[in-house]
Amino acid sequence: MKKSVVLGIDIGGSGVKGALVDTQKGEFISERIRIPTPSAHNMDSILSVIEKLVSEFKWSGRIGCGFPGVIRSQKIETAANIGGRAFIGKNLGKEIKKACGCDAWVINDADAAGIAEVKFGAGKGCKKVVLMLTVGTGIGSAIFSDGVLLPNVEFGHLRMRDKVQKKNIIAEKICSDAVRKSHDLQWKQWAQRFNKYLEYVHSLVWPDLIILGGGIASKSEKFMKYIKSDSEIVVAELQNRAGIIGAAYEARRMIK
Ligand code: BGC
Repeated sequence: MKKSVVLGIDIGGSGVKGALVDTQKGEFISERIRIPTPSAHNMDSILSVIEKLVSEFKWSGRIGCGFPGVIRSQKIETAANIGGRAFIGKNLGKEIKKACGCDAWVINDADAAGIAEVKFGAGKGCKKVVLMLTVGTGIGSAIFSDGVLLPNVEFGHLRMRDKVQKKNIIAEKICSDAVRKSHDLQWKQWAQRFNKYLEYVHSLVWPDLIILGGGIASKSEKFMKYIKSDSEIVVAELQNRAGIIGAAYEARRMIK
């Protein structure tokens, strides 16, 4: 297997997805395998799913792993939608190495998706300010200027007014895809909420380009007609492959 091939893994609130990635081309070279995220969110349960992926792919090389939380110096600092305290302070890369014997690099899931889009997808070659937003169980965000990432930007946690509860709550509890599903919102209703969020984010960052990714990316024909933004806004080209590709790309760059 070529040295540029890395096993990319994207840990999400509902599924853990993996594929072998050619990190030079930014492409999958295997099928994508999805295993439902175990309902007990803890290190052992996540590691057992990662071990399953490693054995499905008969893998012994590098692993790049996207995690839905802040990652600093390879330590998990937050895990809002997955396990909370169970992961805080842990070095998931080291745990993967112990469990599977593979060198692993861990990165915030939205940062990973953004890296893939900026290198290989909808933001390729863009020298300006690009904001990646991933909409799924939560809302992830990543900002780039001239292709350079400012890591761990948590715009899904901006506080907004919730009209129903009449109080300020974090944006991802108002307009994530999980909220759309659990509140049975029509696409138009969800888009109205999301447009308010876009307006707010735009007033803070003034991006030149917004890329919309995450689970919602594959349903763009349902909602893009309702989306309004003061910046140019496009759907992720790599769709839900972006998180896996970006995590693999970073592992290749960071693990020598
Ligand atoms: C987390 C982010 C993550 C996003 C998408 C949020 O709840 O705080 O770190 O990128 O969900 O998974």
